[in-house]
Amino acid sequence: MATTPLLEVRNISKYFGSVIALNDVSMTVNESEVMCLLGDNGAGKSTLIKILSGVHKPSQGEYLVEGKPVDFNSPRDALDHGIATVYQDLAMIPLMSITRNFFLGSEPTKGWGPFRRFDINFASQTARSEMAKMGIDIRDPSQPVGTLSGGERQSVAIARAVYFGAKVLILDEPTAALGVKQAGVVLRYIAQARARGLGVIFITHNPHHAYAVGDRFTILKRGRTFGTFTKDELSREEMVRMMSGADELDALSHELSEFARRDAAAARIDEQLVEALEEAEELFEKEGSPLKEG
Ligand SMILES: Nc1ncnc2c1ncn2[C@@H]1O[C@H](COP(=O)(O)OP(=O)(O)OP(=O)(O)O)[C@@H](O)[C@H]1O
Ligand SMILES: [Mg+2]
Repeated sequence: MATTPLLEVRNISKYFGSVIALNDVSMTVNESEVMCLLGDNGAGKSTLIKILSGVHKPSQGEYLVEGKPVDFNSPRDALDHGIATVYQDLAMIPLMSITRNFFLGSEPTKGWGPFRRFDINFASQTARSEMAKMGIDIRDPSQPVGTLSGGERQSVAIARAVYFGAKVLILDEPTAALGVKQAGVVLRYIAQARARGLGVIFITHNPHHAYAVGDRFTILKRGRTFGTFTKDELSREEMVRMMSGADELDALSHELSEFARRDAAAARIDEQLVEALEEAEELFEKEGSPLKEG
């Protein structure tokens, strides 16, 4: 028998006034798997994960966590159910240390009453050992987060979510702003999170990143699902083609050649204008300015 998915949406729709952002979308995420959510700009990816993470309520459809229907009123509700979301613009404070950022909002304390204070030793040791479990060696947990690379910062956020008991980790384009090497770092942590039993929802525009870590792929197109595919069902080439939208690329190249044609026409007008100005200047030099006298 199949195991209950960690998370499931059934026939979810979301309307913003007359805009249909999602239309009848169904999807599941199981433990120990990476589900990639793929699709063009405006396809509805962020809207879907905002529903999963308690930011939006669906207009229609069902949402189940470990087989039980849920109705989240806030991201806190989702977090309490073990659903953690790491956004592109991370909620971190650059000038504060790795340790402080790791425990932001959930600071461990020691002492009591007026003597209660942040337990820095416990926090530093925990931050360091949790990062080590993800395969990251931080030399100095008191180092400001702002001095870390983009990839390292993403990994602090992932390690933090794992430590605070996330079962499902949602990542909205964590590799978008990163170079090849740093993206590799983040992809490794995604694989680590899966190895620790988490279900990961990974949003990306990059088919190569998706193919590197994804187990299943859900493709959204203008608010609808194109279907969910396993790695066996979808070759890398098919995925690249589907994501780049080969037909749309043809239309784009046509549009660009149209621009080039118009640019050439504009350039001819510019030339005429320059000639006219040069003529006027020559005239001015020969005859003086008509405005000079008086
Ligand atoms: N709060 C909102 N109010 C009105 N329309 C919205 C709102 N949020 C999203 N939309 C619309 O819903 C559609 C889906 O947007 P969404 O942000 O989910 O796309 P996306 O797949 O994440 O795109 P991208 O790859 O560019 O991030 C878009 O047409 C968008 O304009
Ligand atoms: Mg988005």
